[in-house]
Amino acid sequence: MTLFSAVAQLEKRKEADILVVPFWGKNKPKSAASLGSLENKLRSPLDMKDFHGKEGEIFFLYLQGEKEKRCVLLGLGEEEKVTCDSLRRAYAALAKYCQKKSFIHLNVVLPNIVELRRMQSEECVKGVCEGFLLANYTWHRKTDQEKEEETTLLKQITLVGILPKIQPFLERQELIAESVYFARDLINENADMVTPAHLAQTAQKISERFPSIKTTIFDKKRLEKDGFGLILAVGRGSSNDPVLIQMKYEGHPKSKDHTVLVGKGVTFDTGGLNLKPTGFMETMRSDMSGAAAVMGAVIASAALGLKVNVTAVVPSVENAIDGNSFKPGDSYPSYSGKTVEIGNTDAEGRLILADALTYSCLHLSPTRIIDLATLTGAIVVALGDDVAGMMTNQDVLCAKLLEASESSGEQLWRMPLYKPYKQLLKSDSADLKNIGGKAAGAITAALFLQEFVGEVPWAHLDIAGPAFGSKEHDYHPKNGVGFGVRLLVDFLQKL
Ligand code: BES
Ligand code: MN
Ligand code: ZN
Repeated sequence: MTLFSAVAQLEKRKEADILVVPFWGKNKPKSAASLGSLENKLRSPLDMKDFHGKEGEIFFLYLQGEKEKRCVLLGLGEEEKVTCDSLRRAYAALAKYCQKKSFIHLNVVLPNIVELRRMQSEECVKGVCEGFLLANYTWHRKTDQEKEEETTLLKQITLVGILPKIQPFLERQELIAESVYFARDLINENADMVTPAHLAQTAQKISERFPSIKTTIFDKKRLEKDGFGLILAVGRGSSNDPVLIQMKYEGHPKSKDHTVLVGKGVTFDTGGLNLKPTGFMETMRSDMSGAAAVMGAVIASAALGLKVNVTAVVPSVENAIDGNSFKPGDSYPSYSGKTVEIGNTDAEGRLILADALTYSCLHLSPTRIIDLATLTGAIVVALGDDVAGMMTNQDVLCAKLLEASESSGEQLWRMPLYKPYKQLLKSDSADLKNIGGKAAGAITAALFLQEFVGEVPWAHLDIAGPAFGSKEHDYHPKNGVGFGVRLLVDFLQKL
């Protein structure tokens, strides 16, 4: 994909379907770029007060004697309040408008943020690009879609008003977006297709495309031999065997620094014998969103050639029902040796993550571990659909992740690893029970995981809310969002 190119001056631009001109808006819209002679042609909607410049507002007009026959005025909202995220939202709104109208070749005048001094020009370009890229994605399985409903993806966007030396930066934005699309596709695809074996195969294919990524697959036999008791227990009810996938990218071989990213890879979560009711199971093909995110982050690291060492570890199972399913009340040995009593088979994520975390600590010499998991409904109750919960045993890691959250726009909020609640996980018959109680469900889930990381700096991101969208909004699509990929890439880039 090469979506973006750049020209420095308005006069140098080539023909396109449409010209996009940015405006700040408060009381009176104000041009956000110097437009020269063009300015006069855009007067009427401003004078007639038909356009206000509000964030994401779009006004269409025809042009004469220009390289484009059409023009839109795009509102960016108040100049003083501009952020990378407000630019993302405005340009995503524009992208969707153009897709509906089948304008696929755009000349986009960049807002002149340099003069504002509240944002680096690179950050501005990043916001604009991400708005376009994150919105320029569709996924469906309709065979008979009505013509007018069809969205035509944008094909060529020329950014006007920036030196062409920005090109490598633009290409990097596209590579990151492709990793987000990778995650979205994998989440959206049928669970019948995306089985643990399919995830493993996908990882292997990635290795072929990026030789700097080394993939290792632990199949069921190997998991049995090595004693991954909890992954095996959860996987027992499905004819799709469990796997553990490891994808290693060593971009800085001289350094010992090593980030391990663990992603929950439940390819479908029926709840197991503690079956989920109707209304709660329909979206559970998304229960491997953590896996998709960490795999996407490793792909992006390799594609960008980041000078970091990073490994994705993905325990993958289907939590299904049959005569062989693992059972509530029974206890199973974990890879760490600790035994776990099953209070509820629907609390399966923490079980497979526990084995993956122990494995990572024992065999990968991690400097830090970050796990991403659609772990609890409780975090959705607490933080809603947009914000992921973060529980971590280390303040430095916390600060760095919050910084990455701020600059990627992927929302994180720290929740406490409140120690006294550990007693809620006590079992009469085993070392631990896999559920606490009704209260503080997201925290007890995190406390369960903490039992398996020892003293390693670790952060747990419960992405059950933002991983999967029930409706499209701003630059977030409906269904698979690919949440976490940009957050992790931003984090790794700043290590
Ligand atoms: N995959 C679910 C959590 C989930 C819920 C993700 C909603 C996305 C949207 C997880 O495996 C689960 O079922 N958790 C249970 C835990 C409970 C049994 C302690 C839950 O949250 O209800
Ligand atoms: Mn579950
Ligand atoms: Zn689950």
